[in-house]
Amino acid sequence: MGAGKTTLSTALAEQAGRQRMDVDRIIEETSGQTIPEIFAAGEPAFRERELAVALDLLGRPGSLVLDFGGGAITSPAIRELLRGRATTIWLDVDVDTCWERIRGSDRPLAQDETEFRRLFDERRLLYASVADAVAEDLDGVVLAAAGVVVERGALRRLGGLVPGDGPVALVSDPHVAGIHGMDAQLALGARLAETHELPPGEEAKTLAALDRLWQELRLGRAGTIVALGGGCTTDASGFAAAAYLRGIPWVPVPSSLVAQVDAAIGGKTAIDLPQGKNLVGAFHWPVRTLIDPALLETLPDAQRREGMAEVVKTGLLAGEPLWELSDDRLVRRCAAFKAALCLRDPFDKGERNILNLGHTFAHALETAAGYDGLTHGDAVALGLLAALRLSGRDIDQVEEILRPKPVRVDRERAWAAMRRDKKTVDGELRLVLLGDDGPRWNVAVPDADVRRELDLLID
Ligand SMILES: NC(=O)c1ccc[n+]([C@@H]2O[C@H](COP(=O)([O-])OP(=O)(O)OC[C@H]3O[C@@H](n4cnc5c(N)ncnc54)[C@H](O)[C@@H]3O)[C@@H](O)[C@H]2O)c1
Ligand SMILES: [Zn+2]
Repeated sequence: MGAGKTTLSTALAEQAGRQRMDVDRIIEETSGQTIPEIFAAGEPAFRERELAVALDLLGRPGSLVLDFGGGAITSPAIRELLRGRATTIWLDVDVDTCWERIRGSDRPLAQDETEFRRLFDERRLLYASVADAVAEDLDGVVLAAAGVVVERGALRRLGGLVPGDGPVALVSDPHVAGIHGMDAQLALGARLAETHELPPGEEAKTLAALDRLWQELRLGRAGTIVALGGGCTTDASGFAAAAYLRGIPWVPVPSSLVAQVDAAIGGKTAIDLPQGKNLVGAFHWPVRTLIDPALLETLPDAQRREGMAEVVKTGLLAGEPLWELSDDRLVRRCAAFKAALCLRDPFDKGERNILNLGHTFAHALETAAGYDGLTHGDAVALGLLAALRLSGRDIDQVEEILRPKPVRVDRERAWAAMRRDKKTVDGELRLVLLGDDGPRWNVAVPDADVRRELDLLID
């Protein structure tokens, strides 16, 4: 009580696009009595009703945000239910803060401070015994709901953080394996059953690389693939896990900025075909995503720049200057933003499209450059300029942070690539733009305007 449960569960439901149910309110509505009235007839009667409501709600298909009264945890049957059927988030707020929030109110537990503190200590252990995650703020509950852990030092706690107790196959790229592989192996301890390497960069996202990996894997269905590396490693490993034995659990441990703020979140996995990038893949949500911002300390500047383009994209979408934050806070905020978006639109059927801000231009420029000499990050930086101009926004911030330079590519080739983009509907280009009340997707933009902005990006 006083932890902020109602506020945060309401906000989580909105962010995750789920319905919120309050167990105590449902009991009151269905019984026509208030909680104190039911309690007057004895606690066991109340706990019985509470359990019946919980059984009903947790037995339904789909997912919702369920808000329990603080005492629910004292029921062994409810604890069992929470362990088996729910992602349980514990709002761990210190006792003084809780007491300050509720003292003087007419809630029964708010009458006696000594009794409140005693109950608080007693219940802490019970909360700890069922919690899948601990959170303190809205980003914290969103990340927990999405199964994302952002924690400095997470790599060294890998063994405990990878869900379950089955064997683990560790997959990484040779470069990252050389830097962080040993720490990961030590942390996995006895759970580490196999280690595998994927080729570096986009070469990992090929059928040949996955064919080799699938043939090497010895894991059974109780096993988990842990993918340590950048977005190429996580994209390819995720797809390997999605198809191996018709799907086994996987845990990305993203090590590049691109992967920590974008690629490893949201369950999209893929490999490339000669015809184009990400053409074969699956939606396969990780059982957990473990983000350790400390891994970024070994990231080369060029890779950091790649990630900053996506950070700026996220900041523009969120309407917050996220690029000004420290690494730890920036990664956490970007991850939470993307996690919420993906919870609302897990299969990329609508709103998730906003993540393509600047990307239609970027892909056209990359194609025109033949994926040579122009990095994705630099292409996105240019694409963001075009998207901002078309949105009637100022471009100063993006210019200052990312310093994009026009590229020397064939204009007609870039235009042709732009027109071929899968976001064309009835021959008209659809783009993501920033409106006054947030990002909008699927906005039809006249060819002439798009062509003018594209031309400005080309030297
Ligand atoms: N699935 C998605 O939703 C999604 C979203 C965005 C991007 N992506 C994909 O992500 C890929 C790009 O990811 P990327 O930029 O991370 O590429 P990457 O995996 O090739 O990593 C970039 C480079 O950084 C190195 N590196 C990674 N972590 C390091 C560390 N901690 N220290 C030192 N070196 C490190 C890698 O060895 C590699 O050389 C693309 O294939 C893209 O399609 C996927
Ligand atoms: Zn991108």
